[in-house]
Parts: sequence; structure tokens; C-alpha cells
Amino acid sequence: MSNKLATITGVQGYVPEDILTNKDLEKMVDTNDEWIQSRTGIKERRILKGEGLAASDMGVEMVKGLLEKTNTKPEEVEMLLCATITGDMIFPDTANTICDKAGIKNAFGYDINAACSGFLYALTTGAKFIETGTYKKVIIIGLDFMSSILDYTDRTTCIIFGDGGGAVMLEPREDGTGVQDQVLKADGSGREFLHMKAGGSLRPPTAETVANNEHYVYQEGRTVFKHAVKSMASTVMEVMKRNNLTNDDIDWLVPHQANIRIIKSVASVCDFPMEKVVVNIEKYGNTTAGTLPLCLWDWEPRLKKGDKLLLTAFGGGFTWGTIYLVWGYDTPS
Ligand code: UT7
Repeated sequence: MSNKLATITGVQGYVPEDILTNKDLEKMVDTNDEWIQSRTGIKERRILKGEGLAASDMGVEMVKGLLEKTNTKPEEVEMLLCATITGDMIFPDTANTICDKAGIKNAFGYDINAACSGFLYALTTGAKFIETGTYKKVIIIGLDFMSSILDYTDRTTCIIFGDGGGAVMLEPREDGTGVQDQVLKADGSGREFLHMKAGGSLRPPTAETVANNEHYVYQEGRTVFKHAVKSMASTVMEVMKRNNLTNDDIDWLVPHQANIRIIKSVASVCDFPMEKVVVNIEKYGNTTAGTLPLCLWDWEPRLKKGDKLLLTAFGGGFTWGTIYLVWGYDTPS
């Protein structure tokens, strides 16, 4: 059997230019910078503004940068998966719109709707197509345009989320680097705690659903918080156990950026010092499917070939999981 693994050979993030600070939010809802920072760790987030712009426009920026960085021609890409809950339209999928706008003509692809765990699900799916030898160049995107589904009169949700994400290139390698293992989970009974009430076939859009603010993110924060800590920690420990890894073996824990208190709790339960935990929530807030590739993009200069990473996330569904991967390259300084 081949020991071919799917290795990340490049990463490119994208965040819009416009910054929404906690001070800005103080003027919009009954909140304050001190509460937001102490309860979530967020200082500011990016917001996509501009007539006619959509999720795919952020995706195209990521993909163009990634193709340049990895010296790849658009026609070489064979598959593109886009993890998002804020695609341009309910259908068709945003993955194909991105391919069209980026000049990727020889690929097929589709969107993966797994909220904050979407990047884990998409990375796992793409990796299987590489491991089996089916494809040699697969792009995995995680992005969200959260400001398009936020109620900026609801202080419990609008302060948390931001726009942005990132894309990675997956290629086969036989040097021991790449995606090693994953534990992915889902529990649909969690849907009552984090969802959008209307717009789907259950409650198609009407004047009433619009008037009732049902096209925005709905979240029961405390319940989600508790499940997030427990679920991320348990899959981190499960992946470590079945790969005979100790905490000393792991170079970086890369958690979904939903709340600094969740991140610190997961690190504490799993006994990781915060020096090994990737955190950038203060700059971008929670970009849903975008947080993990944004973390990889921010940390890329610090990552070394052979570094062992655990990527973990929890989100709407509920969905959650952890991926263990070995980093594939040193970034030229
Ligand atoms: O990424 C997808 C998964 N999502 C998550 O992982 C998010 C999980 N949940 C959370 O991060 C937190 O639950 C929140 C940040 C959403 C809320 O923080 P919390 O510490 O759980 O606050 P809480 O909901 O328990 O509310 C505490 C108090 C309440 O006031 P009372 O009832 O104690 O008087 C809220 O009304 O804080 C109030 N509050 C606020 N105050 C100022 C809620 N939001 C705000 C706000 N500014 N923005």
C-alpha cells in the first residue's frame, strides 16, 4: 500500500480591509469594549463592504494568492472544496463560482456546510482524494461572510463574528508530512442552539420571516460554549491517544477562534501551555469556517517542516472534530 499523504503545500488568507472595532459596536448596541474583550478576547473584526460583493469574491482573492504562491496554473487544479455557511446563493454552490472567477477550468468542486467545523470536514474530504491517488492538486477553502447574516441590533451575536478565511493547496507527499488522522463528529440534535431560523425549506422567506429577524444567526451562547469545550477537548485527546502522541510531541494546537475563554479552557483540559496554542481572535473575531485557515496563514512564517499540528473546531450542527497533521514546508524568510 502507498504511503502517500495529503500535505498542505501553501496557504493564503484573506480578510476585507474594513475594520469594525469594539468602540464602533458601542455605538450600535448596548455593549462595551471591556465586556467584549474580557468575555470573548475580540478587539476588532473585518467586514466585507461594497455593492455586489459576496463570499466568492473573498474566495477568489485567496485562490489567486494561493496559485501564485504555489506556482500553480489555474488549469492544473483538479478539485476545489469550499467550506462556508454564507455562500453567494443557496444554489448553485460557491466553489464553482470561485472556480469560474479564478479561471479554474479543469476542476470540479462543491460547498461543505458544517459551520465552524467546515474546514476540518473539507480538508478531510480533499485529503482522501489525494491519498487514493485520484488527484494531485486540490484546493480547500474555509471562509465566511458572517456580517451578511448578523443582526446588528443583537448584542449577543453581532460582537462575535467577522468576515474572512483562507485557502490551502493539498498535494501528495511521501516524506511523512501531511494529514495523518482525524476524528470528526456530528450531533444534529444540537441544531436548536445555533442556527438560522428561516430561508431554508423549513421556513421559506416571507415578509413575516424578514420582519421577525429570522434570517440572522440565532445562538444560545452558554449552551454552545459548554459543548464546544467538552467536544473539542475530547476529540483532541482521542486523536492523540490513538496516534500515541504526548503533549510534548505536539508543536501547535490550532483551535477554532470562537471565544478566548473556550480556547483557554480546551488548552487547560488537554494540558497544553498557551505558548503552543495559536490565537488570533483579537484581530478577526469568529469567521466561522474561516478561522482555521486564517490561523495557518498567520502562523505560516513560524511553522517548520515536520511540525506536528492539531486542528480542532466546534460549531453549528452540532459539528466538531480534530485533525492531526504534519506540516510540509519551511517558509522562506
Ligand atoms: O463558533 C460557533 C460556536 N460558537 C461559540 O463557540 C460561541 C459560544 N458562546 C460564547 O462565546 C459566549 O456564550 C458568548 C460570548 C456568546 C456570551 O458570553 P457569556 O459569558 O456566555 O455571556 P452570557 O450569555 O452568559 O451573558 C452574561 C450577561 C447577560 O446579562 P445578565 O443576564 O447576566 O444581566 C447578557 O445579557 O452578559 C450580557 N451580555 C452582554 N453585555 C454586554 C450578552 N452580550 C453582551 C454584550 N455586551 N455584547
